[in-house]
Amino acid sequence: MNISAFYDSPMTDEERRDRLYKGDIFIFSPSPATRQLIALAGEMLTSGFAPYDPREIHKHKTPEEVAGILATLKPRFIHHPDCKKLIPAIMEEHGVEVDKLYFDVPRMRSAYPSDFLTSGIAYAFDAHRDTWYSAPMCQQNWWIPIYPLHPDNSMGFYPRHFEEGVDNNSEIYNYYEWNEKSRGSAAQHIKTDTRPQPKAQQDIEKVTVRFLPPPGGIVLFSGAQLHETVPNLAGVARYSIDFRTVHYDDVLARRGAPNVDSRCTGTTMRDYMNARDMSPLPEEVVRLYDDGTEVRGGVLVFGDRLVEAR
Ligand SMILES: [Fe+2]
Repeated sequence: MNISAFYDSPMTDEERRDRLYKGDIFIFSPSPATRQLIALAGEMLTSGFAPYDPREIHKHKTPEEVAGILATLKPRFIHHPDCKKLIPAIMEEHGVEVDKLYFDVPRMRSAYPSDFLTSGIAYAFDAHRDTWYSAPMCQQNWWIPIYPLHPDNSMGFYPRHFEEGVDNNSEIYNYYEWNEKSRGSAAQHIKTDTRPQPKAQQDIEKVTVRFLPPPGGIVLFSGAQLHETVPNLAGVARYSIDFRTVHYDDVLARRGAPNVDSRCTGTTMRDYMNARDMSPLPEEVVRLYDDGTEVRGGVLVFGDRLVEAR
């Protein structure tokens, strides 16, 4: 199979989603709304780590101190009221029909030099698919760097494995169980991370493709894409923003990427909110994705959800 990367493609959203579900990746230049979003994040980082440069903070503070600052800063960003306005604005800038678009709160991610802080609140994700973490096959990921990227502090893709499954233990992951037990404790995992995470159970040839858009640019890809946090060998910290979206028509039609190897249970479908009025997906539509495990724990609805601090 072949995978294409499109740059600033004027394609319609529908055609783009079709291509995303076949493994293609889209790169966009910075836009007014993404510039505002990274400015908001950048200001929070600058004031949180003042007087130091957030990219150099590992030279001035201990991993414990940095984890402590991120434990406050990341949830503040996630729940900042401006984010709820800027994400719909980014959607409109990219030709997405806002009424049919549902999004999850944006996360701020940090990746520090490999020997500093790579667990818990700055968890360095090994090669994974978001669909190993209960994301639906129609999920799209929007990933935006806040500072200039270096190949050695970016995100890596394994395009070959979009179609080719890898041995993994995603069956250990249930979304509701994870919410109940593990997530709230991210800031406590400084040196090691003992929370059970789905991982590849085979060696994967370490050949990745890395896209390096400028700050405020976007890498848009299917949540079924195998990807990872590249071990940071660049000497400076990387900070990025990402959020996930689903389109109502695809949710209803159960359209999406092929499931080649995900066996997790539960669904993140109740986390997405409408980009126009912030309402959740209709319950009868979400039920199409229920597998019986939703009765195990409290089913989370947006607003009640635990703060994801990582
Ligand atoms: Fe991911």
